[in-house]
Amino acid sequence: ADALKIGIAGLGTVGASLVRILQDRHEMLATTCGRAIEITAVTARDRSRDRGVDLSKTTWFDDAVSLAANADIDVFIELMGGSGDPAYAAVKTALGRGIHVVTANKALLAAHGIELAAIAENNGALLNYEAAVAGGIPVIKALRESMTGNTISRVYGIMNGTCNYILTKMEKEGLSFEACLKEAQRLGYAEADPAFDIEGNDTAHKLSILTSLAFGTAIAADDIYLEGITNISIDDINAAADLGYRIKLLGVAQRTESGIEQRVHPTMVPYDSVIAQVDGVTNAVAIESDILGELLMVGPGAGGNATASAVLGDVADIAKSRPGAQHVPAFGRPTNALLPYKRAQIQ
Ligand code: HSE
Repeated sequence: ADALKIGIAGLGTVGASLVRILQDRHEMLATTCGRAIEITAVTARDRSRDRGVDLSKTTWFDDAVSLAANADIDVFIELMGGSGDPAYAAVKTALGRGIHVVTANKALLAAHGIELAAIAENNGALLNYEAAVAGGIPVIKALRESMTGNTISRVYGIMNGTCNYILTKMEKEGLSFEACLKEAQRLGYAEADPAFDIEGNDTAHKLSILTSLAFGTAIAADDIYLEGITNISIDDINAAADLGYRIKLLGVAQRTESGIEQRVHPTMVPYDSVIAQVDGVTNAVAIESDILGELLMVGPGAGGNATASAVLGDVADIAKSRPGAQHVPAFGRPTNALLPYKRAQIQ
């Protein structure tokens, strides 16, 4: 088969890891996928930065929209981040051309996921986003494919590696919040604006995506009770420990008698539960359902390689897909209502 031609927009932590893996494992991937994967186009804010990869034979574009509009590619990989343009315009442009899209951008999907899924469907393109939630944990596949037919009652977990890293390091090493955050940034875990991590918005974005898949709702990150970890002190962590608990930033979506509820807040979890033992940048997602029962997935939630691994899985799925095959929509049409659980109502 012909090589699968991909264009990558964004060469930060994840993009650089992805390029490195695609180059180092070119032969292996060609065998596994039945066709080679070639990077034919790239764009990044800073063209000259040394990323330890050779992109001299690749066509460079000035910006993501011109790449999405003009590059000779089969797949557009969006790794820029941000809920608005240029990511939004670029993804729409690619899907409008019938080009498959792989994205790690949870903020974009939280804002426009249902619309983008419809554009993809109308143009016969795939929109894959495994890397957008919980890094390398295959939770999107679990909800969209493996658990088909299950009725889900609850989805919850640790979905932000930066926050879990900070909480763990504060407790185990007694370091200040600020020092732990700096370290998380240095390791490439945090968002470009780390306020999204520590104030809980990133968890809310991810949770809203899972809620939509699990419960057939709209993606509504604004209808989430939201509280981050900025007010958690070492004293709080120690006081919880004295009582036999650890503090974790959890995202929870569940069926209640009055409707489907979403919330994100620091939670005291019993020390001997599995979730309490999830340390550092590791994430954990639990899904409770009627046929399967309780599924708990634990694994790397942020960082270049973990996230690139999920992106690569999405690309491989496209490489193996048959041309003209009917695609499952990226998000279903929303059929169930969400509880409007707004911050203002809680205070
Ligand atoms: N900043 C995010 C986190 C990256 O720390 O989890 C992965 O989505």
